[in-house]
Amino acid sequence: MKIDYKETTSDLLARINIHEKYGTRNIDDWMIETLPLKEGMHILDVGCGAGKQCFSYFDTLHGRASIVGGDISDELLAKAREENKRRGTDIFFTELNFNKPFAFEDNSFDLASCSFAIYYAENIPFTIKEMHRVLKPGGYLFTTGPMPENKKVFYDIVKEATGKVIPPMPGSSRYSTEILGAVKSLFSHTDLIIFENPLTFPEADPFLIYTRASLSEDRKLWTSFFDSKDEFETVMDKIRTVAENRIQKDGKIVMTKVVGGILAKK
Ligand SMILES: C[S@@+](CC[C@H](N)C(=O)[O-])C[C@H]1O[C@@H](n2cnc3c(N)ncnc32)[C@H](O)[C@@H]1O
Repeated sequence: MKIDYKETTSDLLARINIHEKYGTRNIDDWMIETLPLKEGMHILDVGCGAGKQCFSYFDTLHGRASIVGGDISDELLAKAREENKRRGTDIFFTELNFNKPFAFEDNSFDLASCSFAIYYAENIPFTIKEMHRVLKPGGYLFTTGPMPENKKVFYDIVKEATGKVIPPMPGSSRYSTEILGAVKSLFSHTDLIIFENPLTFPEADPFLIYTRASLSEDRKLWTSFFDSKDEFETVMDKIRTVAENRIQKDGKIVMTKVVGGILAKK
């Protein structure tokens, strides 16, 4: 499956910011509670983006771990390295394309994680196999991704505004099926843990900021949705109308993020 997807720094950071401001729960805290983190671990974070999870692991382990973050985006890696420097931390950020063999030895990591990225892989079993290969025996794989019921309100509003059928998303349509299946087939033990985070928007503006940061990427995947840049703005205007009507009627929009965490042992 060829996926033409490239995250931009501003869109990713805009969504992270909205989650932090309007969410009730913190996904980083949930990940830290869920993960079997121990000082001295050798950790690889695949699709690390601007380094969010790497910094969270580093802080939790008080820097007593060797952490590698790999991503395909030079822009996001530059952001991660800048933050690494600002914090004075020694996380190693490196270029990594998860569609190609990883430049790491077999059996070298205690934990290989991949948050909100694995579903962009062209060949899921290949990427999972690479993560399995670089893990030590007894090492853990952890991935996160959207479940089918993730942010239903968002899709309902887009659907109401456009009158169009929402194309299947590479994440939510495959995460709990194809991706979970690929992990189960390779690892000795696999658990699926669910995280729910309701985001409450008291007004339309932050919901629209989230929508723009989400749709400007989705539009590359939803080729049936937007033909031109103008059409994107027209769609955004229609979404604003529907969102404002909902706020007027209910006083808020509650969009629940439903995330699956796959934790597996080699
Ligand atoms: C939604 S972002 C998640 C980033 C980070 N894990 C986080 O949660 O903030 C998806 C990430 O996958 C990365 N990505 C997409 N295709 C990739 C590939 N072929 N190899 C490695 N990383 C890739 C993107 O550059 C982006 O950083």
